[in-house]
Amino acid sequence: PQSVTIKTLAKLKAEGKKFSSMTAYDYCSAYAVSSAGVEVILVGDSLGMVIQGHDSSLPVTIEDIAYHIRCVRRGNVGSMIMADMPFMSYYSEDVTLKNAAVLMSEGAHIVKLEGGAWLAETTRLLSERGIPVCAHMGLTPQSVNHLGGYSVQGRDPDAAQLMVDEALMLQEAGASILLLECIPEELGERITKALTIPVIGIGAGAKTDAQIMVWHDMMGLWPGRPAKFVKNFLSDTDGSIQDAIKLYDEQVKAGTFPSAEYSYE
Ligand code: KIV
Ligand code: NA
Repeated sequence: PQSVTIKTLAKLKAEGKKFSSMTAYDYCSAYAVSSAGVEVILVGDSLGMVIQGHDSSLPVTIEDIAYHIRCVRRGNVGSMIMADMPFMSYYSEDVTLKNAAVLMSEGAHIVKLEGGAWLAETTRLLSERGIPVCAHMGLTPQSVNHLGGYSVQGRDPDAAQLMVDEALMLQEAGASILLLECIPEELGERITKALTIPVIGIGAGAKTDAQIMVWHDMMGLWPGRPAKFVKNFLSDTDGSIQDAIKLYDEQVKAGTFPSAEYSYE
């Protein structure tokens, strides 16, 4: 099949069709995800927790992400590879360009950065130099210490309006994709409708243009208590990982996942 690009995703949004996304950190998982028809593979800094066993994503380095991109790109068969810019790897223009260039050279097709309005300049800087940007808003785990924990964002009306405005600013600045984490379903819908770029959600309800899920969560591997938005798809199969990925992909594209059980009101 033809490789997925930002054009592919923009076209899907324009046609009102949903797409799916998953994390993968190694060769076999990347092959499984990509060959199932999942459009976007994320090499995310959640690897700090699920691969490295840290209690947050903060210790992840650009070298860590680069290593996992190398593993993933060899198993990828046509999906778009998105790479997280880890904590403090985009604090100045020079540092941002240098680090984003490393990830793109290793095989990423787009980089993801956490933040709102303050990222507008950075987004413009990268996109003007040929590096597509996915902006990550809502719950931004790199700011866990500032937020005071992992909780639902945008619940009060002012915070919700601010998120809409800042999302529009980032689109204006050149972001190609927006990712929304852990917000009420209604706000996920509102932002998705306000933006022309595709919006990927995790814990953002069923109305976004796409969904993303962490491999280890989908397979029920995380030892702790799963978040409300986490669904174990493996337990809905006869034990086949490939079937679990297909089931997830089908339910995302049919708009049946996430149901209310996995969304925030
Ligand atoms: O690192 C990651 O896995 C992510 C997803 C939760 C969106 O950023
Ligand atoms: Na991440």
